[in-house]
Amino acid sequence: MEFKRSIVITGGAGFIGSHVVRLFVNKYPEYKIINLDKLTYAGNLANLKDIESAPNYRFVKMDICDFEAFYQLMQDEHIDGIIHLAAESHVDRSIKDPFTFARTNVMGTLSLLQAAKLYWESLPEHYEGKRFYHISTDEVYGALELTHPEGKANDFSAHEVYGDDFFVETTKYNPHSPYSASKASSDHFVRAFHDTYGMPTVVTNCSNNYGPYQFPEKLIPLFINNIRHRKPLPVYGKGENVRDWLYVEDHARAIDLIFHEGKVAETYNIGGFNEWKNIDIIKVVINTVDRLLGRKEGEDMDLITYVTDRAGHDLRYAIDSRKLKAELGWEPCLQFEEGIEKTVKWYLENQEWMDNITSGEYEKYYEEMYADR
Ligand code: NAD
Ligand code: TYD
Repeated sequence: MEFKRSIVITGGAGFIGSHVVRLFVNKYPEYKIINLDKLTYAGNLANLKDIESAPNYRFVKMDICDFEAFYQLMQDEHIDGIIHLAAESHVDRSIKDPFTFARTNVMGTLSLLQAAKLYWESLPEHYEGKRFYHISTDEVYGALELTHPEGKANDFSAHEVYGDDFFVETTKYNPHSPYSASKASSDHFVRAFHDTYGMPTVVTNCSNNYGPYQFPEKLIPLFINNIRHRKPLPVYGKGENVRDWLYVEDHARAIDLIFHEGKVAETYNIGGFNEWKNIDIIKVVINTVDRLLGRKEGEDMDLITYVTDRAGHDLRYAIDSRKLKAELGWEPCLQFEEGIEKTVKWYLENQEWMDNITSGEYEKYYEEMYADR
């Protein structure tokens, strides 16, 4: 079958990547979607069971650092679009092992850029109709102060009340963790390939995602699983750090829109004006899990255990996504209450998915991580 476009999605077996792959495979039968993933501890093909035999889907097991293999793939598949999500993504792991983050996030991104450059520049039409879309994080901007009450779900007028204390696209990069430093570096390389070679790039910086298929080392799935099994909930520091939460399918919709309609060389911030103090979101999660399991709401509050803070723990992240709304008309579809209900339900109904991940290697990792605190 002839496809209209041939698109590589890197990191498609991970949390956000699997939602993006599913959306593209289902929405665009005329595109060939190639999921390129090394299948690290965070990659899981079980995330894509429902679409694995679709005629427009192909999985390729590959390391993004393997320049030769990727260059060959570009030629074999006539790739005209790259949506790049593959990364090492967990701050706590980056504190223990920063080299892996530099290798994958910086060198891996550079390797993809260079292979895409060589292939696209060898074609008669050069960069016409091509796109390199790099998915990044709000963590590159550093940390904000606690200036206003959290919990302003989907309120795009929050800035009118609280001033401009949000990350905007022009906020100066100021990463603090090895993870955010590696993502910042990769963002700079992507922009440099536009500025130097004219590659049609676009970069987005998104806030914290939540939803189905997230690896249970991140706050929300970890805590849902621990509450279910009545294990302690390790709250870092005083639980007062603020994160801005977006439902993963809203992020995937933004990626679809920006891949097709975003302006070349632009940066777009993606977020839902949905700030929560960790301790407050944890209480919502406990109440929701308890209710859905038929326990008395709040019965598991005593699982909250304050532990040693994360080193260099960023106090507050908050994204201003008004540019994306004004220019491309994107807004989150889900209110937080709906999103968290759907998410908790999904994890409780997919215990086998969770059990497969949390056995073996992961158990050892988690025990060690927890013992350190
Ligand atoms: P994830 O850890 O769940 O998935 C990462 C995927 O990348 C995995 O499937 C893994 O196997 C793959 N991968 C890792 N190293 C690789 C390599 N060397 N070669 C090929 N594949 C490799 O991550 P996620 O949470 O889905 O995040 C995806 C992207 O979105 C990342 O770039 C991350 O920085 C960014 N992001 C994440 C969030 C969030 O809240 N999770 C927010 C903003 C931006
Ligand atoms: P996390 O899900 O790791 O995302 P990020 O660090 O990228 O924001 O953590 C979200 C917040 O929850 C962050 O402030 C750290 C905190 N946290 C805990 O308090 N306990 C935990 O066990 C984890 C994993 C995170």
